[in-house]
Amino acid sequence: MTVSDASEGYRRSSCFSVAGFAELARERMDSEGFDVIFGATPGAPGSHTVANNVDGFQAFPLLPRVLSTSEQRSTTVEVLATELPKPWLFAPIGQLRRFHRDGELAVAEAAHLSGTTMILSMATSTPIEEVVEVSGGSTWFQVYLMRERSVTEAVVRRAEEAGCRALVVTVDSPGGVGSREREQILTRDQVRASPAPPRLAAFEHVPSRLASSIDPNHFAASMHPQPSWADIDWLRSITSLPIVLKGIQTGTDARLAVARGLDGVAISNHGGHALDFARSTIETLPEVAAAAQRTVPILIDGGFRRGDDVLKALCLGAKATLLGRALAWPLIAGGAPAILDMLEGLTSELDRAMALCGINDLGDLQPGVFTNPRQLAVV
Ligand SMILES: Cc1cc2nc3c(=O)[nH]c(=O)nc-3n(C[C@H](O)[C@H](O)[C@H](O)COP(=O)(O)O)c2cc1C
Repeated sequence: MTVSDASEGYRRSSCFSVAGFAELARERMDSEGFDVIFGATPGAPGSHTVANNVDGFQAFPLLPRVLSTSEQRSTTVEVLATELPKPWLFAPIGQLRRFHRDGELAVAEAAHLSGTTMILSMATSTPIEEVVEVSGGSTWFQVYLMRERSVTEAVVRRAEEAGCRALVVTVDSPGGVGSREREQILTRDQVRASPAPPRLAAFEHVPSRLASSIDPNHFAASMHPQPSWADIDWLRSITSLPIVLKGIQTGTDARLAVARGLDGVAISNHGGHALDFARSTIETLPEVAAAAQRTVPILIDGGFRRGDDVLKALCLGAKATLLGRALAWPLIAGGAPAILDMLEGLTSELDRAMALCGINDLGDLQPGVFTNPRQLAVV
């Protein structure tokens, strides 16, 4: 049974929680494949960081408040001139057609219907233009620095022309590091579950003399093995789109990114797929927020499974979160309708946590007013 055959059986409102969608997704793939891709096998590569990300939220209890909740609560935030009705975006995930027949288009449809901004992976299996059209226009584009700068530039130009509004440059897992494991993951996944062969749709216009440096079966090997700040300066020099650096995990690197004139930072450890035994991303957030000093917006992903997790990140200084596995699992379970159900569940969890903490407007949260970051609330 392929993923797409199974997902056609999804009925609207079957499930709302991210944990429930994880179970549905596991049932629809073989569970070994699920564990390999999502890092759920204890002791497997990356499993420690995956677990740290999820467990990290427990160190930050929420502080309840009473008699201070208004009837109407606002969850709108603004990031890089993009108004988000809820404080999250869809994280970039490569080759979405391996998860569902409609792949990136299912995610784009859910983005359009919910007003969420989708960050389209450079490893998209669907052409950028088609995704932008279905998503209703508010698409950001994720970039890896490739071995050949001219290849990176050709794809950036295509994303610009397609109407993508910002670039998110992922720097936490350079091509030469850990790529063997990551390639094994991709290959095994595709053999076992893919309804479609791998396709690097964002690269199909790259001139043939350069195309030989790109291999859909070994995508990580096509990336720059040792990108540096000079490559980021170069990227800054060739585009006027806002640039967010994804993969920041220390205050020191956040300071360097701000000094480089970047427009935002995204705290991420690639959902645990980069350095194993890394800190949870939520644990990193106070340090990064202190370093960035509110000069640029901070985004964060890694382990977000509940609306309460999202509220904690915003209280600690993030502007918005990126949904990774929380997006992939409902996609596998039932395409766009299942993603919309997941968002409904996340929204109601967030709203409930806001109400019980006396937080009425996410736009008003002031990082820095918390006397104790382990007891989050507006003081
Ligand atoms: C299967 C899978 C594929 C991913 N593909 C990409 C990608 O193409 N580009 C990228 O920048 N990040 C990629 N990521 C990382 C996500 O964007 C995000 O950082 C991560 O999933 C967040 O952690 P979470 O899944 O625990 O929320 C991928 C993650 C997973 C699980």
